[in-house]
Formats: sequence, C-alpha cells, structure tokens
Amino acid sequence: MNTVAATTTPPVTVPVSESDRALIASLPTDFRWGVATSSYQIEGAVDVDGRTPSIWDTFCRVPGAVHEGDNGDIACEHYTRMPEDVALIKELGVDSYRFSVAWPRIQPHGRGPVNPKGLAFYDRLVDELLAKGLDPWLTLYHWDLPQELEDAGGWPARDTAYRFADYSMLVFDALQDRVKNWTTLNEPWCSAMLGYAYGLHAPGKQDFPAAMNAVHHLLLGHGLATQAMRAAAKSPIDLAIVLNAATAYPATDAPEDIAAAHRADGMGARIYLDPLVHGRYPADVVADLGKRGIEFPVQDGDLEIISTPIDVLGLNYYFSQQFSGSDENGRTTDDEGFPISRVLPLGRDKTAMDWEIVPEGFTDLLVRVSKDYPGIPLVVTENGAAFADEADENGFVVDDGRTAYFVSHVAAVAAARQQGADVRGYFAWSLLDNFEWAYGYDKRFGIVRVDYDTQKRTPKKSALWLRDTIRAVRGA
Ligand code: NOJ
Repeated sequence: MNTVAATTTPPVTVPVSESDRALIASLPTDFRWGVATSSYQIEGAVDVDGRTPSIWDTFCRVPGAVHEGDNGDIACEHYTRMPEDVALIKELGVDSYRFSVAWPRIQPHGRGPVNPKGLAFYDRLVDELLAKGLDPWLTLYHWDLPQELEDAGGWPARDTAYRFADYSMLVFDALQDRVKNWTTLNEPWCSAMLGYAYGLHAPGKQDFPAAMNAVHHLLLGHGLATQAMRAAAKSPIDLAIVLNAATAYPATDAPEDIAAAHRADGMGARIYLDPLVHGRYPADVVADLGKRGIEFPVQDGDLEIISTPIDVLGLNYYFSQQFSGSDENGRTTDDEGFPISRVLPLGRDKTAMDWEIVPEGFTDLLVRVSKDYPGIPLVVTENGAAFADEADENGFVVDDGRTAYFVSHVAAVAAARQQGADVRGYFAWSLLDNFEWAYGYDKRFGIVRVDYDTQKRTPKKSALWLRDTIRAVRGA
C-alpha cells in the first residue's frame, strides 16, 4: 500500500494500491480535470429575473414524486453565491468547470426572444471562470425543459427539437466568443426513459411509445443544434453530447444471457451511439421495437442531421450490471412471448444509491466505445458516488468510501487509456452536494459538503485527494 498525503489542513492520507498509483501516475500532464454540476440541481432562485417553471419545478410539486417533497427552489443558492463557488472550484485545482444553462431563464416561454436578465447570469459565470483561468464546459440541456414546452407536447413532440435548436443558438450567439466547449444534451436516456417511460423523473409520464418518440426528438434536437452552432461558429469550437453508459455483462455464457446483455446495451447505449455516429438506429433495437408495434418517428434527412460530426463524446459513468436472459424458473420468454431480461447482482459493494461499484466496467466501457465508434475523443463528463456522509463539528467529511471510489475509477480511466481508449479528461460529479432529482437532498454526491441550513461549503476528503492527485499527475 502507498499513501498520498494532502498538503493542507486537515491532513488526509488516502490508501492507494501500488497498481492504482501507477495507473493514475500514467495520466498525461495535459489531461483535463474538472468538476461538474447542473442548473436545477444547484441554482435555486427559480422565480428570479424572469425564469419560469421547468418540468422539474412542476414535478417536485407532485405528491410522492420526490423524496420528502424536496425541490430546487433554494438548492445550493448558487445563483447568488456563484462568485464564491467559482473561487472554490479554483481552490480544488481543476482546470475546467462543467455546468448547464437553464432554458427557462433564457426563454421563459420556451420560444421567442432571449430574456437578457437570465442570460446575464451565465455571462457573468463565464467571465468569472475565465478570470480565474478555468475553462467553461457548457451544457445546453440538463433536464430543465420549460413547462410551457411540455404542455405543448414535450420531447415526444417533434417541434421541441426545433425549439431546442433555437434556444441553443441564443446561448451560442451570446457566449461563443468565450466558451469553446459546447454540449447539447446531458444523458438523453434519462430524459426519455426516466421522464416518459418509467415516470421517475419529470414530467413523470409512463408511456413507452412516447419515450421512443422522445429518444428520436432529443437526438434530432441535438443534431439541429450541432449543425446550427457549427455553421455560426466564428472560431474553432468543440461540440459534444453527453451520454450515460455502462457495461452490460452477460451473467453466464448461455446464449440467452448474452442476448439479454446485448439488448440492455442496445436500449441503453447503442440506441444513441449508432444514430449519432453511424447515422442509423441499431437493427436489433428497431426489430425488437417493431415486435411491440413501435417505430421511431424518423423523417427524411433526420439521420443525416443526427449524425452531424461531433468533436467530443462525453460519457457519464456510475456503475455496471450483469444480465440474465431467464427468470428464476429458467423460462426465457414471458407470457407475451417476449425475451426475459433480468438484472442479477454482481455481488459488489454498493453506494448509497444502491449502485454496485464496478470500476472495471468503466475501463471496459471506454475501451469498447472507442473501438466501436473510433475517431471521437472521449471525455468522462461525470463520475462519482453518493455515500451517507457524516460531518464533524467543522463540517469536514472524511468520505473514505467516496474517495476510494474516485481512486479506483480514475485508475480505471487510466487503464482504459493504456488499452487504447482516447480519453482526454475527467470531471468529478459533483462539485457540491445538491438536489439529486427524485432523491431530493437525501443523496449527497458532492466532493464539497453543503450544509443546507447555512449554505456553508466545506471540501471533503475526496476533494483534497482530487486536488493532490491533479498536482501529482502534473508533476507540480
Ligand atoms: C447523472 C446526471 O447527469 C446528474 O444530474 C446526476 O446527479 C448524477 N447522474 C447522479 O445520479
């Protein structure tokens, strides 16, 4: 065992295995390091400066939708505390900050002219970041759709894709002189599946065909915005989309287990990656949906738009799973004749989200994606873990579980690079404890603790580990 000692008080030591230490040390000095957040999760100030409700403001008011009826009304008060938060980011030693823009601040009605007061916040944020030498990574959509657009049909409606491209251009025109890294969507799987199929996220619908329409219109919106930004760019920019992905392992070598894992990968990853990179939906996914009478609402030219080249593929990784193609009784099809897919535990330790900790699934994912979709640089746009933190009287959290998670997962990224994956950077999720969607404030992902009574921010042990690791990798 080797230890890495942090250089400020309170002093921390982190156990790091010799192999992980060597892997992390192999990361290049120009590797990008950042922290990530999103608008609704941290900003608060939901009715300030012309902002109107998003689908999340509405969803939080639905009884039982969010843990203890929590909402983003106050969150981390980032809207008013932004300068101090940027100073904090700087202290962490990262070089980049990934944040998202709240659409209902920019276009309170989801369409029409820009709301200057809403835009001004992001204008100030970008200036503050640049003044501190931090690189802004701007995400245009991290789930806070203006409620008026949901009322008009939301993502299942084709028009929302065009509205998204219009909104994107308002932000792009205002900030392209200072922002180089642009991400269209964060995790469209969550928007489509959690929002429209499973009802666990806003807008809380349970309508599988509508969710498949949402998949297509999210991708179309991405493509339209990407084309428009590319055409309007006055200087070189990097355009990206961010997907959540995992490795789907078959539980055994049995053909039905291999097929179940392949199906899970199809609905989780290839359904986005194939149209984005290859300009076609995966044939097996299309065939499976067809058996259920569902078709993507593709119109002529859509797939060319969707596959407009991107410069960076962002991947968010939290866990992996294994799949079985049979039930407890050995049956491989259900009563309707559809093949069975069942998640089986891998038997690993879990985070507070009940997600199994599978760092090699991260390595396998990065290596696989760079082989199957070659030529696109990858950036880890989120990775992190929720644990039941306990703060001392100063607010300091010895988050050994989270720190160990970061050690093993940063090492997993380095391992993927050694196996040929072109991974250029790593963003920790998240800068701050924040509003964890349906889990409210119950789950803490921050590397900085937020005391929600006082809004005091206190870097946790994991934040100190990250800072020292960046320094070590850079040889500083
Ligand atoms: C991914 C999402 O982008 C982010 O908003 C969320 O908080 C994390 N996963 C953790 O669940």
